[in-house]
Formats: sequence, structure tokens, C-alpha cells
Amino acid sequence: MAEEQSMEQFKGQPRLPEFAAPRCYDLFLKPDLSACTFAGAAEVTVDVVAATRFLVLNAADLAVDHASISFKNQESSEELRPFEIVEVQEDEILVLGFDRVLPLGKAVLRIRFTGTLNDQMKGFYRSVYEYNGEKRNMAVTQFEAADARRCFPCWDEPAFKATFRIKLEVPSELVALSNMPVIEEKNDGPLKTLSFQESPIMSTYLVAVVVGLFDYIEAFTLDGIRVRVYCQVGKSNQGKFALDVAVKTLDLYKEYFVVPYPLPKLDMVAIPDFASGAMENYGLVTYREKSLLYDERYSSASSKQWVAITVTHELAHQWFGNLVTMEWWTHLWLNEGFASWMSYLAADSLFPEWNIWTQFLDDTTSGLVLDALSESHPIEVEINHANEIDEIFDSISYDKGASIIRMLQSYLGAECFQRSLASYIKRFAYSNAKTEDLWAVLEEESGEPVKDLMSSWTKQKGYPMIYVRLKEHELEFEQSQFLTDGSSGNGRWIVPLTLCCGSYNTQKKFLLKTKFEKLDITDLIGSANGKANLSGKSSQGNSERFWIKFNIDQTGFYRVKYDNELAAGLRYAIEANKLSATDRIGILEDSYALCVACKQILSSLLSLLDAYREEVDYTVLGHIVTISCKIANIVADATPELADEIKVFLIILLQNSAEKLGWDPKEGESHLAVMLRGDLLTALVLLGHDMTRNEAVRRFYIFLNDRNTSLLPPDTRQATYISVMQTVSVSNRSGYESLLRIYRETDESEERVRVLSSLSSCPDPDIVLEVLNFLLSSEVRNQDAVYGLRVSREGRETAWRWLKENWDYISKTWESASLISDFIDYVVSPFSSKEKAEEIEVFFASRTKPSFARTLKQSLERVRINARWVQSIRNDYSLEEVVKELAQKKE
Ligand code: BES
Ligand code: ZN
Repeated sequence: MAEEQSMEQFKGQPRLPEFAAPRCYDLFLKPDLSACTFAGAAEVTVDVVAATRFLVLNAADLAVDHASISFKNQESSEELRPFEIVEVQEDEILVLGFDRVLPLGKAVLRIRFTGTLNDQMKGFYRSVYEYNGEKRNMAVTQFEAADARRCFPCWDEPAFKATFRIKLEVPSELVALSNMPVIEEKNDGPLKTLSFQESPIMSTYLVAVVVGLFDYIEAFTLDGIRVRVYCQVGKSNQGKFALDVAVKTLDLYKEYFVVPYPLPKLDMVAIPDFASGAMENYGLVTYREKSLLYDERYSSASSKQWVAITVTHELAHQWFGNLVTMEWWTHLWLNEGFASWMSYLAADSLFPEWNIWTQFLDDTTSGLVLDALSESHPIEVEINHANEIDEIFDSISYDKGASIIRMLQSYLGAECFQRSLASYIKRFAYSNAKTEDLWAVLEEESGEPVKDLMSSWTKQKGYPMIYVRLKEHELEFEQSQFLTDGSSGNGRWIVPLTLCCGSYNTQKKFLLKTKFEKLDITDLIGSANGKANLSGKSSQGNSERFWIKFNIDQTGFYRVKYDNELAAGLRYAIEANKLSATDRIGILEDSYALCVACKQILSSLLSLLDAYREEVDYTVLGHIVTISCKIANIVADATPELADEIKVFLIILLQNSAEKLGWDPKEGESHLAVMLRGDLLTALVLLGHDMTRNEAVRRFYIFLNDRNTSLLPPDTRQATYISVMQTVSVSNRSGYESLLRIYRETDESEERVRVLSSLSSCPDPDIVLEVLNFLLSSEVRNQDAVYGLRVSREGRETAWRWLKENWDYISKTWESASLISDFIDYVVSPFSSKEKAEEIEVFFASRTKPSFARTLKQSLERVRINARWVQSIRNDYSLEEVVKELAQKKE
């Protein structure tokens, strides 16, 4: 009740009170690009729905003109002025106290304010670009998650949807964009005033404004929606690929969701300074340059794919997120998990030759790895303060989110799933939804117990490992939480389990609900036994062997541990080429994970790897590459005396395919072959393969003299640059200096990132230190510094010292852009001793902040996991013998 309300009660609350809600914002903004300031005025139509003397809304880093604030009820048209105005900094709220209870119904709240166009890549900020050799500022917004309040006072929560009428006053020669099209333009000498059409109701985090110099290209969807890509002046041809993808994707999503794209236009803009990869602002999607621009000559195949995935991801949000919005950040995964999953759906339809669903396992793997930490969190995570939100844009929300959607889709069937999604979008359009709202629709449409099934995956962290044993004709299952640190969690899941037996034609699926279960498979064995039997000897005298693969095509978010007999069967199935690429990846990744968790010895992982000698699939080899590099790293710590021999074995594994692909692109070869070439060469370089290193350096020097040489296309440059850095030391700096020159001369963002990602792979710690300091210089944009943190093993100690010494500067510069988590993860996670973990913990004891607290704990956990793994490798007495045997097997 009004009498009981006091200013104090609004402090320290996770959410704004609901007694007044915005309906329409008339927002005026006037940025001053040279002074880096802005002035603004908001007239908010608010609906007072419960008796109150107070209005509580968000504002941060703004100078609010207290004298300008007025409140005018629409009916009585009496103007009230607050007698008490309090800005609570910690809570980022503005509380307006009136001397009487506000009349119920609609009123207009007026506030004027000013602010700074900051350099923090959030709120209303400045980004710097070059035009005619001169540095210029552009003004850009980035509001997700909770930074609209840094641009104008507002109810900055996703559930407070309102319409927006935006008006900008900007220099006449500049392009000014917002969510909606311009409806009126007034020119007044050097300045112009643009009024944008009123938007449909939407959340504040999706509001956007961009002001700067751009060229654009445009195209239209089948429905006549105008789509434009805005790029740096002179570069609009680099927007063609993204434009084409966007137009096709809008048509595709319209069909999939059975709801048309809701706005009259879509603009996509490349921004030179950008904190994340891209942002789905309604009708005005902003991108980091390398996520939008693609150039036939200068871009790699993997960049092309990244552009496609990013565009399809952001456009999926136009429905999933923008039209139907999560009710609160706890349900962020509904946005991000779905957009990620949808982006693969779209990419698969546009580029079937990419086998993108096989590549999706890269994401599932990241999700599984993060979620196997004790310091993981449930998909639905409690959020109590705005500063906790940034950190949940992580692999749990994105990758685990997308993976459990894939799991559910595969359980319910694609058609039923699509029908349900379309009906969910229709039901919650222009509104908000919680996770359970989605389950309810799916449950209704499918008749399956979706809510129970899925809650077990979204409300608790972690996932199960299913241990399977075959006893005669019965499979025995045991589910337990999989934790890499070796501890036992007490999670239980409802697991949509699938298996196939001897062939993909013999399948079974069922829900595993309890800890132990048994399944009689006499029938399956019967049908498989015609061809093969359990002991490896076929009843018909041929050499086929019986095998069972669980988690068919890895659509389930769990791991499987097989008893020895079943594992041997799978090894046979791999060698005999019976399994799909996804299943081959699954078996290897599960085995690797068990190994890191010390539930399986390294020698048996190496033996399994040996079964992949004939592997030719891009994605499978990609996983072999990643795993190989991790093994090489850990053995360098654990058993340096065996490290070289293990590397030899790993090189043998990759060499065949690498030789087949060679260094030079071949006429008409596939997208996947091109990507694989780069990845394999990079891995061989990192594993120390001399021939590859020498060839790389040879090509590099030709390239230095002739940047247009066909000997070094973008796809093999990363491998080459890393090779060059392997030759660099304080006494032989020429390769390093050449790379810096390439960095300084290029105006391709992709190329700059490529150079940065190579520099710190140098084995000389003194050079690593120079590189790290270079990252802090004005030559590297803040958005790009993290690419330089992939430090060589020899440089990791230097990197840690550097992080400590520069912590104040680093935390100040990157914390608000929330890239600080990457700094911590990259520098801390590579260590592998308990003592180091303790030392790091001591350093951060007094320095932890909510924005990276979880990442720090996760990184420390990783260090301890590495330490435990090192120990177990040292105790693996069969290792030496197995390695010798494998390395000798060569041809
Ligand atoms: N909504 C996010 C952008 C974002 C990320 C805002 C973190 C605030 C904090 C956007 O849709 C997104 O997910 N971008 C991804 C790219 C995508 C292809 C996975 C990104 O920025 O990495
Ligand atoms: Zn997203």
C-alpha cells in the first residue's frame, strides 16, 4: 500500500517493481561525435496500474536533469513534479518520489539527460574508423543485456515491452539508423533531424541506433522486405555474401515459424569496435566486422561459414527473442540456445555440402566440457543483479541449450517439433515466455511428457554418463553425473536413450529414468547375429563382429562408457567403417573425456585414436586435431620423456590426410577440404612436424615479397604465421617483425585477427611478453586483444606474471565489455599444478568481481583437473610400451 512504501525498499532488489509500466517511449537523442557526448530527452507513456507514490526505473552513468522531470496524467492533465529524486548507483535505478499517490492510468513521464559516448563498447558508445586517412568517430548502441539504461532512463528489463518512437539529430552528411525506417527527415544546415517510424512493442535491450559514414548494398525478400548491409565506405562488396544469406534466411524462417518477419526492413551493419560477435537488435543487427564481411579473395572458408552462422543466428532472434522474448534472464537460453540451434538448421538448408550438423558436435562438445565442471550452472540460472547477466552468455546457455533442443527434436521428430514451435511463436508473439511455456506447448502438441523430461536438463546442472554392460542378452545401464574432477554428483536425468546394433537399421529408443536399468535385447542380437557374434567370430565364418553404438548420431547430451567387450566391438566398427561421422566423433570425445577425468588411462585413448588412421572426414579429423593438441600439451607436463614419441604418433595420425590435401587449393575442391587443410597444417605445425614448418616458412617469405602469391591463400595463413613464430626468438626477430608489418598494413579485420592469434604461440617467453604488451597498446582494438592470449606453453608463466602486473589496467579496460572472462580463462586454464591453482586463488582473493567470479572458479577447477590428469598419466605404467608400439606401427 502507498502509505507503507518508502524509498529504502527499492534498494538491492533484483527486479523493478511492477506498479507502473512503460507503454511508449518518445526518445530524442543528439550525439556529439567530436565531443563524445550526447544529450537526450525521453517522454515515456507509463501506465500506473497499482497505487504508488513512487516511480522506479533504471538509469546509469547518465546526468539526469532533475529539474526537467515531470509527470502528467493523461486525463487530469495535472502536472506533478517529484519532490524526491534518488539515484541508487549500485542498483542502477532512479527512484522518483511524489508527494501523493499517483493517479491510476496513463501518464507521460518527461526526463532530460546527458551522457558520454563511452569507449566501453556498451550503452551508447563511440567506435573509431578511418575515412580518407583520418580517424573519425561513429556512435553506436549495444544494450544487451542491461545497458539501455546507460543511454536513456527506462524500465530496462525484457518483460517491460513498449513501443519506441525514436528521433535523432545528427550531422547532415552521416547515415543514421535505428530499428525502424525513417518517416520524416528535416534538414537544418549542418544538422538533420530524423524521425523513425513507431516500432511494435519490444524490449529495451533490442533498441538500437547507429550514426556514422557507411556505404550499403540492398536486396529484397520474396515478401518485399528490404534488407541492407552497411559497411565501411568502399567495402560494400564485402557485404554481398551476408546479404544473400540474410535474404534467403528471412524467407526460410518465415516458412519455418509460419509467421512473417515482423518489421518493414532489416539493416545489418559492420561496427569496427564491437564487444561480442553480433547483436540481434530488432531490425538493425550490428556485427563485428569479421562476423559480417566476406571477401572472395581475402577471406578463409571458415570465415565464410562463421558469417553464415552469425547471420542465421541473429536473424533467428528476430523471432526467437525479439518477437517472443524471455520473461527474465534466467531464461536467456531460450534466446541463445534456440538461435544457435536454428542457425544450424538454416545453414544446413542453405549449404548442405557443409555437413553442418556434424560440425554442430563442436558446440555440443564445448557444452559437455563446461558442464562437466563442478562450477557449472543450470541452464535456468537465478539472476539477482544486472552484473551477473553477462557471464551467463556462455557455453551452457548457447551450446548446451542448443544441444538439448536438438535432443528433444530428435526425440519428438522434426515435424512435430516445428509445428509446436510455430504454435509457440504465434501464441507468445509480442509478449514474453518462460522455459515452461515452451514445454507446455510442446507437450500439448506431442502428447509426450516434455516438461518432466526437459526440466531434468534445464533445472539442474551437469549431465549423465551412462555406463553400459552387456550380460548375455541383457544390457545393464547405470547413470551417474559426469564430473571431470572425479567427484560424484547426485544428478538424475530422464535420458532419451537410443542404440543401434550391428547396423543403423536395427535401432531402439527408450527413456532411461532411474539410476539402474536393464534391457533385454534378445531380439536385437537375434537380428544382428545372422551376420556377426559377440566374441568377434562370425557365425557365418566371415570376420564381421557384433557391435552396439549408443546415442545414435550423438543427438543426446550425455556420455557413454562401454564395458570392454562393447568397446572392442566399437573399435572394430570404426575400423570397418560402419559408423557415421557423428558417431565416430562421439566415441572419441567420450573416451577423451573419460581420460581427462582419470576414469580411463591415456594409453587406451591412444590405442583408440589409432583406430582412426584411415579417417578422412573433415569434422572427425577436426576433433582428432583438437584432442591431439591437448594430449601433446598435457604429456609435456606429465611425462616430458615420452612427449616426443607421443607427438610422432599423433603426427602419423594426421599426416596422411595432410599429404593428400597438400598446401595448394585444388580446382573444385569442397569447402570442407579447404577448412581441413588449414586445420591439419596448423596442428602439424603445433606438434612440431619439421617438414610442414619448413614449407610454411618457405611460403611465407615468398608471400612477403608478393602479397598476391597464390602460394599462401587465406586458409593456410594461420598455420604459416604460427610456424613463423616458432622460429622467432629475441635474437632472431625478423619473422615477428614481418608479421607486425602485415598487421599494420592490412585493413582486413580477419587478417589482423589471424596475425594476433599467431604471435603469442612463440616459444620464447621474452617475445611472448612483448606480444602481450603490444595487446595493451593503442595499435590493438580492445575487442581484438583477447585473440593474442593463446600463449605457448613456454610462455604461460610469463602471461600469468603479465596479467598480475597489469591487472588494474586490464580489469578497468575490459571488465565492462565483459571480455575480462576471456583474459582469465586463457591465462589461468593452461596450468596444471595444484600449487599454481592456489597461487592464483590467493591473487584473486581480494580482486574477484561478480562479472567474472564464475569464470575464475571454472578456470581454477580446470587447473586442478589438469593437475590430477598429469598425476594419473605418471601412474600409467603401460603408457611407454603402448606409445612405442604405436609410433613404430607407422605404415
Ligand atoms: N545476443 C547475442 C549478443 C550478446 C552476447 C549480447 C553477449 C550481450 C552479451 C548475439 O545474438 C549472439 O549470440 N552473438 C554471438 C554470435 C553467434 C553466432 C553465436 C556472439 O556474439 O558470439
Ligand atoms: Zn544470440
